[in-house]
Amino acid sequence: MAGIPVITVDGPSGAGKGTVSHMLADALGWHFLDSGALYRVVGQACLIEGVSWDDHPAVAAIARHLQVSFSAAPSGEILVAYKGRDVSREIRTEEGGRGASTVAAIPAVREALLVRQREFLQAPGLVADGRDMGTVVFPAAPLKIFLTASALERAERRYKQLIEKGENVSLPRLLEDIRERDARDSSREVSPLVPAEDAIVIDSTATPIGDVFAQVMQKVREKGLIKA
Ligand code: DC
Repeated sequence: MAGIPVITVDGPSGAGKGTVSHMLADALGWHFLDSGALYRVVGQACLIEGVSWDDHPAVAAIARHLQVSFSAAPSGEILVAYKGRDVSREIRTEEGGRGASTVAAIPAVREALLVRQREFLQAPGLVADGRDMGTVVFPAAPLKIFLTASALERAERRYKQLIEKGENVSLPRLLEDIRERDARDSSREVSPLVPAEDAIVIDSTATPIGDVFAQVMQKVREKGLIKA
């Protein structure tokens, strides 16, 4: 796989990683890895198979044999299937997020997903979205972005999204969930959520996503990943 470029985009949930990563992959015509979706599918697969998220050996076995597939709907939306069953909607719920964060703290699960994530590195290039893309999965990436925003800003963004979907949610509850998930993701022993030493840290709290994208594209040019 040497020679195929990868751009890593890490950070906490709600910082805008997904949006910026998609925009980047589209602009460059590169592949896209949504690593969070893999952890979410493991959590969902446990629910489907009747495995408790706390049963580490059983969760790890699910991760090792995970039958997951990604496809694009005519609308452009990415559909995610487990054993051929569409789980796109379930994995994006608050419970889906909790399951992902819980199973992601299990070392054997992370190890099982490592190989699978590296398989996404294919020509002409890859944009990899996650928590440990720059630190663990693709440590040699020529460009590493760490995108962050305040917990309140991230909770408010999530609140707006869920209200638009017609869901009944409370902002204080979402803020509490985000803080809990940040604490779990940042304090776990394996692959905690931290910027790589050579990552460029961008705070999107008060910056529109279009401006964040422009900053990242500037770095892409400076690194010579596309012609200036
Ligand atoms: O990016 P996301 O919100 O879909 O991620 C869901 C959870 O999965 C998140 O709480 C942490 C975990 N995760 C991880 O540990 N490592 C990754 N590379 C991606 C996600």
